[in-house]
Amino acid sequence: MYVIRRLAILSREVLLSLENICKTYDMGEVKVEALKDTSLDIYRGELIVILGPSGSGKTTLLNIVGGMDRPTAGKVFYQGKNITEFRDRELTLYRRREVGFIFQLYNLMSSLTARENVELAAELVKKPLPADQMLASVGLEDRMDHFPSQLSGGEQQRVAIARAVAKNPGLLLGDEPTGALDYETGIQILALLREINTSYGTTIIIITHNIAIAEMADRVVRLRSGEIVEDRENSKPLPAERIVW
Ligand SMILES: Nc1ncnc2c1ncn2[C@@H]1O[C@H](COP(=O)(O)OP(=O)(O)OP(=O)(O)O)[C@@H](O)[C@H]1O
Ligand SMILES: [Mg+2]
Repeated sequence: MYVIRRLAILSREVLLSLENICKTYDMGEVKVEALKDTSLDIYRGELIVILGPSGSGKTTLLNIVGGMDRPTAGKVFYQGKNITEFRDRELTLYRRREVGFIFQLYNLMSSLTARENVELAAELVKKPLPADQMLASVGLEDRMDHFPSQLSGGEQQRVAIARAVAKNPGLLLGDEPTGALDYETGIQILALLREINTSYGTTIIIITHNIAIAEMADRVVRLRSGEIVEDRENSKPLPAERIVW
């Protein structure tokens, strides 16, 4: 599988393309330019880390990529389709079918068990991966019938990952997925994300403040004040277990 993923990256098949994206929040007196003419190609099978200081536009970029927000100007192409032209209904389908999200604070449904949380997401797509199998793959076979309040933070984040991956999405997006976790658990979650990337060929974008995490990425994109100031490939990404911070 590793070979397949490397080949996919090397074959340079563009999965997603951002062309001259601008996002301006109009706050009346002030206008906030969260993204200024940003262009980026994302290749199938890549694991990308996006770095940048607070307020640099990372979440704005991820939300546009994931169809949760629309740009003020510019185009986003997913598998050649211009999703900026999608109506709300089509954009909803794109989000449901193609994108898995992992948030800093897990965002699980508190009234549903781990299994039910994963099953709910799986219902959104035509060919989901089995909920039980996904929970087992994140090491939670003994916790499937627990509610989020009965799980640790790291366990909740693993449910959130199982939930995102059960959709078998083309794109997996994480906004500070390890931000609320301790060091050891954070490393476990990162290792898990790399494993998913290798096993399923899922393209993954991770936002982080933590520069050390960039060492595990195939590509590192750095934002500053709404602009991409660095876009570099990492020819020898480190296994997550070897990252230190
Ligand atoms: N809904 C909104 N309305 C107005 N301004 C916004 C909105 N969302 C974000 N912004 C502004 O856009 C800029 C970029 O915000 P964004 O959330 O993308 O930053 P970020 O890089 O994710 O920061 P952090 O690391 O703190 O999460 C910031 O100046 C922010 O205040
Ligand atoms: Mg953010």
